[in-house]
Amino acid sequence: MDLGISGKTALVTGASRGIGLAVAQTLAAEGVRVVGAARNVTPELEKVATAVSVDLSTRDGARSVVEVALDTLGGIDFLVNNVGAGDPQGMSLGGLLDVDDEQWQTVFDLNLFSAVWTTKAALPSILERRGSIVNVSSINGRMPAGAPIGYAEAKAALNQFGKRLSEDLAPHGVRVNTVSPGPVATRLWTDPDNFGGSVAAAHGVAHADLLAGLPTQFRIASGRLTEPQEVADLIVFLLSDRAANIHGADHVIDGGTLKTV
Ligand SMILES: NC(=O)c1ccc[n+]([C@@H]2O[C@H](COP(=O)([O-])OP(=O)(O)OC[C@H]3O[C@@H](n4cnc5c(N)ncnc54)[C@H](OP(=O)(O)O)[C@@H]3O)[C@@H](O)[C@H]2O)c1
Repeated sequence: MDLGISGKTALVTGASRGIGLAVAQTLAAEGVRVVGAARNVTPELEKVATAVSVDLSTRDGARSVVEVALDTLGGIDFLVNNVGAGDPQGMSLGGLLDVDDEQWQTVFDLNLFSAVWTTKAALPSILERRGSIVNVSSINGRMPAGAPIGYAEAKAALNQFGKRLSEDLAPHGVRVNTVSPGPVATRLWTDPDNFGGSVAAAHGVAHADLLAGLPTQFRIASGRLTEPQEVADLIVFLLSDRAANIHGADHVIDGGTLKTV
């Protein structure tokens, strides 16, 4: 399928690895010029994008990366607000009484406000170019589960942000959609020093056993985790005009984890 996006421009946040990197690589393969942002610049990202080192959990960081993107690309057609989850270090996986206000703020800054700040800064250019936006949420935005507390709440708010933006922007030719993955085989789960390792430790199981048991634990109908490339393919399709009348929808990609209709 020809997506017809060659020559367009894109800003992808959280692009050094995982889903964001797969999105940057897929866009580049389609002939899109990409600026990709994360705190660490990886060789994989540098191969396909102009890589920017920035902390996107701050308003200044989010604004500054949009400035770099505008300077580098001359304008932004596509924005992928992918950055999220967060660093497991120092993050409590406990309940409301275990988690301090600072952790709530950290989780909301990265999983909600980063998208708000980046979108606000990029919007004049996206409006001018009648571009499109995809926010990367999670099935946890619809399912009050998962740790740390605050993550599901922030993603639910991100879903609402996308819907509101779509209502506001569709009449101006800008499409906004949400993509909500279930468990994806990124370092978030596969790296013992990341979130998967913390969850394993909290449950007193070996990291490898946790990984092997995830499909059962999450009751994933397909029996496996989603691959980052599968999420990237959906996002890039939604950005393209092949999805020209898809507005304000939340697209679940979870191997059948969510059981509601
Ligand atoms: N993996 C899953 O199971 C899953 C499921 C549902 C939803 N999601 C969502 O999908 C998105 C991507 O997840 P992923 O699994 O690809 O995560 P990942 O592999 O941990 O990658 C996260 C990306 O964000 C960057 N990042 C993290 N904190 C940052 C900060 N403060 N400033 C700038 N960049 C930052 C990381 O690079 P640096 O560390 O170098 O900054 C990296 O490029 C997130 O929104 C997550 O909530 C993931």
